[in-house]
Amino acid sequence: MSILVTGGAGYIGSHTVIELIEAGYDVLIADNFYNSSPKVIDRLQQITGKSVQFCLCDVCDEKQVDNLFSRHKDIDCVIHFAAYKAVGESVEKPLEYYSNNIGGAMCILRAMKKHGVKNFVFSSSATVYGQPEKIPCDESCPAGSATNPYGWTKVMQEQILRDICAADKEMNVAILRYFNPIGAHPSGLIGEDPNGIPNNLLPYVAQAAIGKFDSVRVFGDDYPTADGTGVRDYIHVVDLAKGHVAAVRKLYTNCGIVTYNLGTGKGYSVFQVIEAFEKACGKKLKRSILPRRAGDIAENYADPSKAKAELGWQAQYDINDMCRDAWNWQSKNPNGYKE
Ligand code: WQD
Repeated sequence: MSILVTGGAGYIGSHTVIELIEAGYDVLIADNFYNSSPKVIDRLQQITGKSVQFCLCDVCDEKQVDNLFSRHKDIDCVIHFAAYKAVGESVEKPLEYYSNNIGGAMCILRAMKKHGVKNFVFSSSATVYGQPEKIPCDESCPAGSATNPYGWTKVMQEQILRDICAADKEMNVAILRYFNPIGAHPSGLIGEDPNGIPNNLLPYVAQAAIGKFDSVRVFGDDYPTADGTGVRDYIHVVDLAKGHVAAVRKLYTNCGIVTYNLGTGKGYSVFQVIEAFEKACGKKLKRSILPRRAGDIAENYADPSKAKAELGWQAQYDINDMCRDAWNWQSKNPNGYKE
């Protein structure tokens, strides 16, 4: 029995592949390296000491996906990471985002139906809560709004999965709502490698620390939070990866459709993150206070107690561990996977 990991060469996918292999699962990665690098596969082999099965595949290509399932009859679960994820870009290119994110998932789900595969893990996001009804935000908070096409693709796919599960009682689906994944594998061999100027806070801070930017942009210091900057629930990518292993175990109990927040339950402000990173890298970082970024909310952090109760999963790493590992990755790979 094996687990197909689409987008397994990407940031969260690659960390999840390690945790799956270490938990004893057979893994097959499908990726087209749209936003990742073939080097990841070598590094995964280096970290795990095992040969990692890989298939070059575009999840939007029906024929390629069908071939993959035909050739690998042992697949009995899919973890679907392969998707576009840049909020700003999704506003510029909505058609590309809906086609790729929803189209890719549909293609995989159709192939699963044809080949009788019944277990699916979906990468969703805290973004589906929009401005959360309450904080900490639990899974019962209304989750049907978004402020950008990327977020809407997550909202829509969650609904599609609920409809599929209502029609097919043999399907098991875990919807995982990620908060803010950061950090890197402690080996420093894999980590986040965004294209161009990073949109997210942590990769921006990390690149400022290696000298690519002369200051850290702070989007707003006038929010109604303790220090005026935005507060988020940052979660170590290795903890997030372990959450996927726990979700796979849950699927194998024939649980039907389940939804979990994956976060730590703790919120940190932009200033607190910068301070933790300064401690990790041993230097002071200049800050430029800019206006608020459109679409941002003041604060959001998870109530992760459902995942703890039902999956037996809980984040282990704290913000200092996250910054230490992000710095270890960034300083060892100043240009990410590029030469
Ligand atoms: C965090 C905080 C910013 C950059 C987004 C998506 C979400 C998920 C993760 C996926 C906020 C502030 C940021 C910077 C800053 N998607 N900030 N300077 O906005 O919580 O979530 O990424 O892949 O769906 O919406 O994360 O890291 O962009 O921002 O001050 O240069 O840092 O205003 O308060 P966000 P983020």
